[in-house]
Amino acid sequence: MRVETLDLICCAKCRNGQLAIDNEFKVTFLRNQKREVLEGLLCCSECGSKYPIVEGVAILVPDVGSYLSARLGEVVLATRAGSLSRAMRQHLFSYQEVRYPLPYTSQSWEGIAGVDMYIATHYGVKRRCAHASKPLRQILSKIRPVDIYHTLATMLHTSTPRDGKHLDVGCSVGGMMERLSSFMTTLLGIEYSFLAALTARRILISSPTPLRSFMWPRDGLKGSRDRIAVRIGRSIVDVVVGDALRLPVQIASFDSVSALHVLELTNAPKLILKECNASLAGGGRLLVSTPYYWRNDRTPFSEWFPHASSRSSSAELQRLLRSYGHEIILEKKALPWPLLVNQRYLQVWSSHVVLSRKQQ
Ligand SMILES: C[S@@+](CC[C@H](N)C(=O)[O-])C[C@H]1O[C@@H](n2cnc3c(N)ncnc32)[C@H](O)[C@@H]1O
Ligand SMILES: [Zn+2]
Repeated sequence: MRVETLDLICCAKCRNGQLAIDNEFKVTFLRNQKREVLEGLLCCSECGSKYPIVEGVAILVPDVGSYLSARLGEVVLATRAGSLSRAMRQHLFSYQEVRYPLPYTSQSWEGIAGVDMYIATHYGVKRRCAHASKPLRQILSKIRPVDIYHTLATMLHTSTPRDGKHLDVGCSVGGMMERLSSFMTTLLGIEYSFLAALTARRILISSPTPLRSFMWPRDGLKGSRDRIAVRIGRSIVDVVVGDALRLPVQIASFDSVSALHVLELTNAPKLILKECNASLAGGGRLLVSTPYYWRNDRTPFSEWFPHASSRSSSAELQRLLRSYGHEIILEKKALPWPLLVNQRYLQVWSSHVVLSRKQQ
């Protein structure tokens, strides 16, 4: 975590307190420069909550204990062998001792396969076309000119008057931030999956070690190793683990916020909008993209947009944004969002995109 990120984040639990590096826990900085914390603890000045920083990724969820007791294995496995200090290992495992592990079913985007799928999708649909099997290549070639993240970044850029601070909620491996990096002065990604957040940092800012290639699966364990080529100003980006339903960021501190394909993955999509709105400064822009793929096992029927009206989901999204005092400035009714699951499996969604402006 970059030291400057402390100015943007806050305690996910009480949201009043300032977070500071806990001096009682040994802090390790990347390359011994005091600019980026590789390992340490953050402590809230108000409620005393502690948040670990593991491999440079701050875990800023409201209940760190539940998060870690359910995912400890995944978090530890994602780190480099031998990189965790004994003190951090003890700290992380202490959550398991005090809590009964929660039932946890890994979501499709949280594991290695999901992260590889997002690397393929975020970093080069065009280049991956060459590997895809022939029928998929033909389908892909028809939507090839569309890089949805580029289109979305351009929408934001052309309607945002000044460079500024951007928050990407549910950023996965960081492709949207890569597209925005030449327009913005500061980019912060919030992601629930530790592995995806670590992967985004490795790709975007080579920290703690660069990630320059990945395996794109074809048949079972077989696939091809492909290059990830990303060149951006490293000093402007950071990614932390956090929950879109309780964003660990300072109120009204971002000039723009994006929430792409994440609303319908949670049990409270309206709350995500509310949280995004709260993190925006007056006059700031909110970019939402969603295929409205509602599923009752993720989002209770009562939370769908809308559940008791004849309006469509897309009309309801705009009504909700207006109810927060937003003005709709751009809408795209259907943008193709190709998700490259593997070399033999392509999903194409039709996303509804709305760009709105918060009142001054
Ligand atoms: C469908 S993916 C979309 C990723 C990226 N925004 C895009 O458009 O390609 C949704 C991402 O949101 C993350 N996510 C799901 N629930 C979340 C939550 N409550 N808070 C933060 N991130 C969440 C997932 O881990 C996943 O990486
Ligand atoms: Zn607090």
